[in-house]
Amino acid sequence: MTALSEFKPGLEGVPATLSGISYVDGQKGILEYRGIGIEQLANQSTFLETSYLLIWGKLPTKEELVEFEHEIRYHRRIKYRIRDMMKCFPETGHPMDALQTSAAALGLFYSRRALDNPEYIREAVVRLLAKIPTMVAAFQLMRKGNDPVQPRDDLDYSANFLYMLKEREPDPIAARVFDVCLTLHAEHTINASTFSAMVTASTLTDPYAVVASAVGTLAGPLHGGANEEVLTMLEEIGSVENVGPYVDHLIATKSKIMGFGHRVYKVKDPRATILQQLGEQLFERFGHDEYYEIALELERVVADRLGEKGIYPNVDFYSGLVYRKLDIPSDLFTPIFAIARVSGWLAHWKEQITKNRIFRPTQIYTGSHNETYVPIHERTCAINLEAETL
Ligand SMILES: CC(C)(COP(=O)(O)OP(=O)(O)OC[C@H]1O[C@@H](n2cnc3c(N)ncnc32)[C@H](O)[C@@H]1OP(=O)(O)O)[C@@H](O)C(=O)NCCC(=O)NCCS
Repeated sequence: MTALSEFKPGLEGVPATLSGISYVDGQKGILEYRGIGIEQLANQSTFLETSYLLIWGKLPTKEELVEFEHEIRYHRRIKYRIRDMMKCFPETGHPMDALQTSAAALGLFYSRRALDNPEYIREAVVRLLAKIPTMVAAFQLMRKGNDPVQPRDDLDYSANFLYMLKEREPDPIAARVFDVCLTLHAEHTINASTFSAMVTASTLTDPYAVVASAVGTLAGPLHGGANEEVLTMLEEIGSVENVGPYVDHLIATKSKIMGFGHRVYKVKDPRATILQQLGEQLFERFGHDEYYEIALELERVVADRLGEKGIYPNVDFYSGLVYRKLDIPSDLFTPIFAIARVSGWLAHWKEQITKNRIFRPTQIYTGSHNETYVPIHERTCAINLEAETL
């Protein structure tokens, strides 16, 4: 029998796999992809090159990168039947739900499963990286009653996504900043959505189901959904003067301050530092954002009140401000996180299936035994719904 002392709520600190994909030092604020510091990748690489690094374990040569980029361009379009399916989605639905459904639908259209075939693996990686942004942009246009825009082959990955979203070619600085945002969000060890991807992968199902389950996990407000909530919070605070009382109220009511805290980082998340710099670049180019002053004060006040607990800005704190400056609607922030994280999920999928053992943890049973089945007409006691509700 498993001892209660072995139980770790949220599996905190429990190693779930051996992985060579990324590394985090939460005390020193270090994040590396395949041993390369995130700062170097943000400054010198592109999202697609970084995806190649994550998934195939090494930086591509020039020829390998050109070929990879070419394959992705070629697969960006989505089948008209997927578009038609998406047209039936309610326009009031959340884009993450639309994305999860569309990602799963890819499995219907590309149903061959050959996990031991490197060509199949390559094809699935390319399709998912290529089509997820197209599906996010298509839902955005269709929910406004417009036809989706076809991808443009002359534009690179990020510029093409912004073009499909806005129907106009983006400013090169905006496209570069967006690309760096994708690089920063591409991978982050065994977080909840990656773990979900790994559990799904371990059943040897298809990669579209793996990505669909990870998208569903990313959608929650304690994970990817936090960046959307950060903007709502900044809006609610409204002014620099309100920051102190707002934070004190949240602390007094034991509520979480969105965009702060992390299971692993006990210092400022290195991605938050880079995103803050990117935000500043955008403000310089496209004008100031009144929320930025509020965000700076919030960072100061939270460090003052909760710094000793290791509560500092995480990746979601400044990403919302960057996306807002790029004029992206706030409910697309998490789908954009998903566009980036697909590369990390796929890296873990590939790693998982090459040394697979199905996930099957254990539990500590806290229920009763030897109860008697009572026929329904003899049952008197109503279930206490409040106690049953989480
Ligand atoms: C990310 C998160 C889920 C990590 O949670 P965790 O590792 O389980 O940490 P805990 O919830 O156990 O928090 C540990 C302590 O710090 C406090 N804390 C953690 N995050 C906090 C936050 N954002 N605001 C206020 N207090 C926070 C907790 O109240 C707890 O205090 P206590 O020990 O006095 O009870 C959590 O920090 C959070 O909910 N943050 C807000 C949502 C968010 O930004 N998510 C994106 C993550 S990238």
